[in-house]
Amino acid sequence: MSEFSNRVEQVSISGIREVFEAAGEDAINLGIGQPDFPTPDHAKQAAIEAIESGAADAYTSNKGIRKLREAISDKHERDNGVSVPPENVIATAGGSEALHLAMEAHVDPGQEVVFPDPGFVSYDALTRVAGGTPKPVPLRDDLTLDPETVEDALTDDTAAFVVNSPSNPTGAVQSEADMREFARIADEHDVLCISDEVYEHIVFDGEHHSPMEYAETDNVVVVNACSKTYSMTGWRLGWVAASERRIERMLRVHQYVQACASAPAQYAAYGALTGPQDAVDEMVAAFEKRRDVLLDGLDDAGLETPRPEGAFYAMPKVPEGWVDEVLDRDVVVVPGEAFGEHGAGYARISYATGIEDIKEALEVMAEATRAVR
Ligand SMILES: Cc1ncc(COP(=O)(O)O)c(C=O)c1O
Repeated sequence: MSEFSNRVEQVSISGIREVFEAAGEDAINLGIGQPDFPTPDHAKQAAIEAIESGAADAYTSNKGIRKLREAISDKHERDNGVSVPPENVIATAGGSEALHLAMEAHVDPGQEVVFPDPGFVSYDALTRVAGGTPKPVPLRDDLTLDPETVEDALTDDTAAFVVNSPSNPTGAVQSEADMREFARIADEHDVLCISDEVYEHIVFDGEHHSPMEYAETDNVVVVNACSKTYSMTGWRLGWVAASERRIERMLRVHQYVQACASAPAQYAAYGALTGPQDAVDEMVAAFEKRRDVLLDGLDDAGLETPRPEGAFYAMPKVPEGWVDEVLDRDVVVVPGEAFGEHGAGYARISYATGIEDIKEALEVMAEATRAVR
């Protein structure tokens, strides 16, 4: 009889989509998880040249074109001070596939994966797709993940824990001290740390650090992508960086589910990573300005918001019924519980939209707050 697998039956379509569907056509959308900037021209141009010359017509090597992996290797050296040889990189279909590879290659049925709650929706779903058991853990009051909470959640059945800084949905940035602790936990407990660094460059206060900088073993796998940094979500280009033996296992999955990342996207990513970086700086400066406007407005509305230091999300604490009041007034925000049980009582607001829309939405949010208080 034709039936569905238990694994897939345990996964549902993200609650974020439901919110979008409920919104009117003219709604101001603060639910979006992608930058509202164009992909830099030099990245597009690199893809166009590859298409026109025929270089993008064929499969590439499974791991991806050599020059892209060299550029990624240089990026890790330059930005993170870690040595990741090109052989230790697989170009993937976005950070999403990179997370999938990390889970499939390391999680056995019945094993647990610890991740932040509220956290990015894929951690729970991909754990289940791999046959594992999700172990969401709550955050500190400032919405960062406490290494001690992670360490306490580890059992003999833990396959991996996920760290995501800067974070979706909270915008929180983990401190260097926390990252050192995550590395120590990965080393001492011999458990894998999957470090999701797709928002690495979108940091306003403090600095991004990777647990890979501090780990003494190969127990850290880094997931990254061009999606957010270069506003390339539609191109679908990310990567995993890890030790040779881990890459070899992840490649077994990648080879059969993907063969190789899209060739034009690989060339575009090469262009983005090796070209001028000022588009990134301009985008980050715009996000920071918007963040400040948003935080001021939320504060004026009487909403308490842990200060986001990166990405393009804020997560204010909101009263019961607030999200519905805001949605009814045609502003799209995502209820915190879409990101896990501990997200209840919060809402995620994306500021990847123009400052005028943010100001207008703030008036609506203030009105909605008055309506429910
Ligand atoms: C924390 C986090 N990780 C990974 C991804 C996946 O990114 P990509 O579009 O590169 O698949 C996202 C996308 O929203 C994200 O927010």
